[in-house]
Amino acid sequence: MVRGVFITIEGCEGTGKSTQAALLAEALREAGLSVTEVREPGGTLVSEAVRDLLLDRAHDGLDPRAEILLYEASRAELVSRVIRPALAAGGAVVCDRFFDSTTAYQGYGRGLPLDQVVRLNQFATSGIVPDITIVLDLDPAEGLARATGGGADRLEAEELGFHERVRHGFLEIAAGEPERVVVVSATGTPAEVSQRVLEAVGRLPVLAAVIH
Ligand code: TMP
Repeated sequence: MVRGVFITIEGCEGTGKSTQAALLAEALREAGLSVTEVREPGGTLVSEAVRDLLLDRAHDGLDPRAEILLYEASRAELVSRVIRPALAAGGAVVCDRFFDSTTAYQGYGRGLPLDQVVRLNQFATSGIVPDITIVLDLDPAEGLARATGGGADRLEAEELGFHERVRHGFLEIAAGEPERVVVVSATGTPAEVSQRVLEAVGRLPVLAAVIH
C-alpha cells in the first residue's frame, strides 16, 4: 500500500510551531511533494467547532476528562477525513500538534493517568503514528510572553507551573521515543529554527533525498 509521510510539530505555547509548520510545508512543496497542512484541534468543520469550545475562556474549569475527550473527538474527525486519506494518496502531511500534545497537556499538565491517555490517543487515531515529530523547545515563561500579546486563550491562561509540567512532558516523550521524536531549540530567528527543523526531518530516509 502507498503510504505518504506524516510529520508533526509540537511544543509549548509561543514556540513558533505554526510558523515552522508553514515553512516546512513550503520547503517540502518546493522539493516536489504534495503537502497537506493541518492543525489540532481543528482542520474539519466539526474539529474547528470543537477548537472554539476548547479555547474559549467562558469554559474555564472544564473537567479534565471532558477536555481530553473533546481533543480526541476533534482528532478522530481529522484523522479519518483528512490525514488518513492524504497519507493513503502518498502525500506528505504536516500537522501542527497531534497526540503528543494530549500526553503533554492532559497527561503531564492536568495529571490524568498516562496509560489511559495513551489508550485514548490510540483509539482516536486508530493507530496512526507520525513518522517524525519535532518538539520545539523554549522556556515556558518566554513562550507565554510571546504567545499572549493579543490576550490569552483558556489554555494559555493556565498558571506557569502547568506550562512547566507540559514542557517536562514533551521532553519525557522525546526521551522515551528518540527514534521518532526530535527536540529542536526554538530560540533564534524563524529562519534559524527552520534550518534546524529541516535538518531534523532530513534524517527520515524518505526525505533525505529531497531536503538539502
Ligand atoms: P494552538 O494550537 O493554537 O497552540 O492551540 C491549541 C491549544 O490546545 C494549546 O494550548 C495546546 C492545547 N492542546 C491540548 O491541551 N491538548 C491537545 O491534545 C492539543 C492538540 C492541544
